[in-house]
Amino acid sequence: MGLERLDKLLASTGRWSRSEIKRMVREGRVLVDGRIAASAEEKHDAETVHFTVDEEPVRLSRFVYLMLHKPAGVLSATEDGRGQTVLDLLPPEYRKRGLFPVGRLDKDTEGLLLLTDDGALAHELLSPKKHVDKVYYTRVAGKLTPDDCAAFAAGMTLGDGLACLPAGLKILSTDAESEALVTLREGKFHQIKRMLAARGKPVLYLKRLSMGTLRLDDALPPGAWRELTEAEAAGLRENGN
Ligand code: URA
Repeated sequence: MGLERLDKLLASTGRWSRSEIKRMVREGRVLVDGRIAASAEEKHDAETVHFTVDEEPVRLSRFVYLMLHKPAGVLSATEDGRGQTVLDLLPPEYRKRGLFPVGRLDKDTEGLLLLTDDGALAHELLSPKKHVDKVYYTRVAGKLTPDDCAAFAAGMTLGDGLACLPAGLKILSTDAESEALVTLREGKFHQIKRMLAARGKPVLYLKRLSMGTLRLDDALPPGAWRELTEAEAAGLRENGN
């Protein structure tokens, strides 16, 4: 890769607009290899340069990976004339990058949603062959029993003929309402709701907690997001291999 302008390199992270970058440079907040950047137009080699902004190292990645705590009531689509989408929760700089959610959560489902522009990784993570487990917390109406766990483990075929791969059901509490962790390695439409409805235990609440090694950050309230750390992104690439 040749030399590229500082503002272009920093803008490629999707975190700042060009005008914000110019301002940060003017304010002396951008360091290039340990020295205060003189101009937003100076050119650097993306392969070797090391930037910090406000003393935080900046990762120049070709791709963006965001963890969003999806709130209920928001669609996992990238565009929808009828309602708010997960992209509407992001600042414009990210929205322009063509990010998309890796797998969909229903409108009323909460929890971990990965957003990226890395199509190859998304494909790998969603392929049932790759065995990337997705873990959900659920609360259902009715008493979950060991028979329900056995049915999940055997691989259910639903009334409409949908054949599900073996899945995990770990009961956390069981009463008039029950709580459980469900582990899926695929993501068919309304899958958990349909599997539990087929067992006569309709879902009252559903939240995704993890996808492979990536766990929803407890510090993120619903609607909040952050970039993945280097270690989290590397872990996901491992999951996809
Ligand atoms: N299964 C469902 O039924 N809904 C989701 O949003 C995710 C998994």
